[in-house]
Amino acid sequence: MSNTVLTVSNIDVFYGSSQALFGLSLEVNAGETVALLGRNGAGKSTTMKAIAGVLRIRSGTVQLQQQPITNLPPHRIARAGIAFTPEDRQIFPDLSVEDNLTIATKLGIQNKHVWTLERVYEMLPLLVPLKNRLGGQLSGGEQQMLTIGRSLMGNPEIMLLDEPSEGLAPIMVQKIGELIESLKNLGTTIVLAEQNLHFCLGLADKAVVIDRGRAVFSGSLNELNANADIKQRYLSV
Ligand SMILES: Nc1ncnc2c1ncn2[C@@H]1O[C@H](COP(=O)(O)OP(=O)(O)O)[C@@H](O)[C@H]1O
Ligand SMILES: [Mg+2]
Repeated sequence: MSNTVLTVSNIDVFYGSSQALFGLSLEVNAGETVALLGRNGAGKSTTMKAIAGVLRIRSGTVQLQQQPITNLPPHRIARAGIAFTPEDRQIFPDLSVEDNLTIATKLGIQNKHVWTLERVYEMLPLLVPLKNRLGGQLSGGEQQMLTIGRSLMGNPEIMLLDEPSEGLAPIMVQKIGELIESLKNLGTTIVLAEQNLHFCLGLADKAVVIDRGRAVFSGSLNELNANADIKQRYLSV
């Protein structure tokens, strides 16, 4: 039995006539954190949006636990177990923190109900005193925490986190890092888009480096960290 959760094979994605991804492939096993690294404009968000069904895949396939999900509508892909938290953190600004969480409740596949409101608050204690605050009144870091909490409430098989640390103060970046580490220790399967290799150290097991829509490195994070050439050519380190 394979424990592969997500398999992206050779996908091509276009914006109009402009090709953004060229035969991109990615494999994520259960419990792994895979970093999608690359400079601004490399294709990280495009990859996540294509997996989540927000962008159309022209050729190639995506499988979730061996089941084809290529180009299914986003709500069906979410229901199948993929939680996508986009860069722009889609929370409801006019709903309270607690309502934002409750409204995202979804049983996992096979009715697994691992994440409850109580457990999400335990994982994200920072949200507890903010329960009744409106989503729109949160700081960027608090919104990011809420977005991750919303994903958890959906009891996903895999989480796609698009640059969760982007634009946050260093203390919040650290908290997000600790949160991802805790999720990883619980066995959560995660794809993490990042520009910053440093943020992924100690968090990610594997890395795929994207440059101009192509995977230019695929391997363990340690291997990447030891590869000065790839780092210098494709990452801002
Ligand atoms: N809505 C869009 N329309 C046209 N081109 C886009 C759009 N969004 C992204 N692109 C282009 O696709 C490429 C990859 O972008 P993106 O996936 O957002 O990169 P990253 O997330 O790695 O910063 C870039 O060249 C970007 O300009
Ligand atoms: Mg992006």
